[in-house]
Formats: sequence, C-alpha cells, structure tokens
Amino acid sequence: MRIALLTGGGDCPGLNAVIRSVTKSLIRQCNAEVWGIADGMLGLIEQRGRWLSWDDVGGILATGGTVLGTSNSSSPFNVKGVDRSAEVMDYVRDLKLDALVAIGGDGTMTITHGLTKLGLPVVGVPKTIDNDIYGCERSFGFDTAVATVTDALERVTTTGQSHGRIMIVETMGRYAGWIALEAGLAGAADVILLPEIAYDVDAVAAYCREREDRHRHTVICIAEGAKPVGGELTVAGRVEVGGDPIRLGGVAHALRAQLQPLVRSEVRATVLGHVQRGGSPTPFDRVLATQYGNAAAGLVARGEFGRMVTLQAGGLTSIPIDDVAGRNRGVEGDSPLLVCARQIGVMLGDA
Ligand code: F6P
Repeated sequence: MRIALLTGGGDCPGLNAVIRSVTKSLIRQCNAEVWGIADGMLGLIEQRGRWLSWDDVGGILATGGTVLGTSNSSSPFNVKGVDRSAEVMDYVRDLKLDALVAIGGDGTMTITHGLTKLGLPVVGVPKTIDNDIYGCERSFGFDTAVATVTDALERVTTTGQSHGRIMIVETMGRYAGWIALEAGLAGAADVILLPEIAYDVDAVAAYCREREDRHRHTVICIAEGAKPVGGELTVAGRVEVGGDPIRLGGVAHALRAQLQPLVRSEVRATVLGHVQRGGSPTPFDRVLATQYGNAAAGLVARGEFGRMVTLQAGGLTSIPIDDVAGRNRGVEGDSPLLVCARQIGVMLGDA
C-alpha cells in the first residue's frame, strides 16, 4: 500500500503528533509506504514530497509546526485562475498512491472533498486552533491555543491590577468564538466578546465604569471576529487565493479607541496573533492528535474513504467529508459554556 500524507492550512500544535501517529500506524497496520507531501496543497500541485520512514517521524511528538510544511493559500482547483486538479490526479496515479490522508481545517476538507469527487480515496483529520470544524467537538490544537491565551490573560491581569487599567486581549478563532470563550473562562476575563454576539460599546463601557468604582482593573477577552452592534468585521488584510480571502485582526485596537472616551481608566490592547498557533502541544492535544492519526490509519486499512475522523460525545468516530466541506461550527446561543459564563456574571457584550 502507498499512502500520501499532507498538512494543509495554517500550522497548529499537534500536527507533528498526527504525522507521527498516522505514519507509525500505517507502517504497522498496513505495511504501507508513506509519502509525505511538502507544503500542503502547494506541494501536491508542484509534485514535491519525500518518503517517511519509522525513524523519520521519531522525536516529533511534542514539537510545534509541521515537519512537512504547509500552505493556506493554494488549491489545485484554482492556481492563479487555472484548474490543475487533473494534473494532480495524474501525479497521484504516477506515484501509484492508494489513498491520501489530509490533515487540515475546513479549507483543506473542502479541497479534499473536490479531489474525492475526482476519484481520489481520501481520509481527513480535523486540525485547527479555532475548533470550528463542523461535526467535530474538539480539533487538535485548540486546547494548546486555549492554554496560551489563558496564560496571556493571567499575565495582563497583573498589569491591569497594578496600574488600574482596562486590559483588552484579542484572540484568533476566525468567525467562531471558541478560543475566546474557553480561554476567557479559564483566565477569569470579566468581559468576553464573541463573533456570535454583537457587542454594544455603551453596555461594555457601562460595565467597565461600574467596575471602576469597585475594582482597579477590568480584563476583556475579545475574539478577532467580534463586531459591534451594527458594525463591521475588523479586517487586517486580504489574500488573493485559497479558501477565505479575509485576514482578521485588530478589533482589540478598534474597541480600545471606542471605549477610551467612555471610561476613566486607561485602556490598553494586546493582539496575541500567531503565538496561539505555535509551541509544543499540551498533553491533551498530543493524545488527541495521536488518537486521530491512529484512527485515520484505521479508516485507510478498512478502505473507509471519503471520511474524516472526529470526536463526538467524547468518543472517536468518523463522518463523511461531504458533511464537513464548506461548513463551520460556531458557539450556539444555548451552548452550556455560554450559559455558564452568563450565570457567573461574565459580561458578554449584549446587556
Ligand atoms: O484558522 C486558524 C487561524 O489562526 C485563525 O484563527 C486566523 O484567523 C487565521 O488562521 C490566520 O491565518 P494567517 O496565519 O494566514 O494570517
């Protein structure tokens, strides 16, 4: 058996743990030869890669990034406006590949779904710090990002307390508020602002003023995709090709400017950015990534293609990539975590 492996989209803690687990499992379970495609979809288009041995994937479990490289602005269906998917399929046939294991987020799953329709047997592994993949309770990388943001919130809290400031911390997460919500709760943020709930600047300011009378500081955790009531997303830039052309970033600074005239304390903003995607995966993510990799190899061994491994109701399972492609999972209004945050008095921007 010959199986190709690629990591697509943004890097994420735990990618190497999946690469290690898939490769070892495929070698042990299927006596497979494993072809590691370089730089994600870009390497598939440009036909670049290398064989991965058992030893090649040793010692990478706890390392950040991806030893294969990745890209998040390449699709074989749109290379500078040209559809090169037929060439990709020729390449797959030339390499005599039996299947592709694609480790990625919604963008990678959507491209992968397109390749499945051309006849490529594919298995998906859900990756993203955003935790927004449809049908997946926990993507690996999320837990590490939450730990990083939690640490950052605790660190800015001491500055807030010492100087009597309002400290705003901006998280990643794209159009989903999972990172901000979980880290906000773990890091004891006073205000948590999510893309799913438009925030009312006057209400946030009133809440901060009320705190000014009783406390020296307020900590606000805001997701990059959050918007004020009647306002727009804060866009840092745009990309030419790939899945989502919008790069988010900077809403913390926008909020700082809106808030400062309405409160007595100095307001400061910190945009965490890519520190959330880097570093060593937490033990939880190492274990989840290892389980996902092993489960993906199991799907390959059983010939169950066109499926993505996933976690549902706390258990490992798999779902059709067809169901995942082009969809996302945001924080629902009745999410138990959201309800819990409200009930312990966290301000969510809307009241
Ligand atoms: O999807 C992961 C993610 O880190 C998002 O949270 C963020 O909006 C985006 O990727 C940033 O991508 P890039 O590194 O291309 O700017």
